[in-house]
Amino acid sequence: MSAPPKTVLHASASEAEAIRHAVRTVDVATLGPGRERAELKHVPALVALLSDARVSGPIYDLPRPIDEDSVTRWVVENQAQALAGEALLLVSLDADDAVAGYSRITVWPEHSSAELAGAVRADLQGRGQGGVGMAHTFGWIFETLGVRLMCLTAALDNVRSQKGIDAAGFRRMGEREAVRPDGTTRRSVYWELTRDEWRQRHRL
Ligand SMILES: CC(C)(COP(=O)(O)OP(=O)(O)OC[C@H]1O[C@@H](n2cnc3c(N)ncnc32)[C@H](O)[C@@H]1OP(=O)(O)O)[C@@H](O)C(=O)NCCC(=O)NCCS
Repeated sequence: MSAPPKTVLHASASEAEAIRHAVRTVDVATLGPGRERAELKHVPALVALLSDARVSGPIYDLPRPIDEDSVTRWVVENQAQALAGEALLLVSLDADDAVAGYSRITVWPEHSSAELAGAVRADLQGRGQGGVGMAHTFGWIFETLGVRLMCLTAALDNVRSQKGIDAAGFRRMGEREAVRPDGTTRRSVYWELTRDEWRQRHRL
């Protein structure tokens, strides 16, 4: 269950509506080649991707157990949330059109805020692509969806994620109990970054 950032921003009605509009209408191919909004046709490939504990193990907000039914519900819920302008569930396809990863962006338009979760297929991990992909996605979320604040969490032992997030300039702000869909919790490192900080870092 994604939770909004600890820092609470208040968006004006027009800012919140612009964010909702962006989430509903954005061409996700602008994030990169092979990016698509997740649809029911992707369910079998998503089940295969997420059934691998090397992929899904570190992620707290996935449906469990991972099977055809739960992933179908998850995709449909995300489609409804996308229509409301409050989430984007994306798949990334490789050159063979196989699902090579996924990203879920949760958006709180009233707070001009977003959170990102995602994973890449096990055979693609640890090659430097994930860190680069994360940084690219953070910039896209700020500049294309228009939010002013992002928060992230990662398991205390998820060194790869922590390195990638620190390297992108996110500020550690203590820990957080991330709540899984079944109500159990996971202690997590917690970060925030504002759009202004991101722009300063990239001199935009
Ligand atoms: C997290 C994930 C997206 C990172 O992508 P990746 O391609 O595997 O990571 P990278 O190869 O870019 O490595 C990221 C950093 O970890 C380092 N790293 C890679 N493998 C490592 C290892 N086994 N031990 C310690 N550090 C490692 C890299 O050197 C890099 O650090 P640097 O930026 O200082 O060079 C990917 O591993 C993944 O999908 N993991 C499973 C799901 C997950 O954890 N999702 C994130 C939840 S918050």
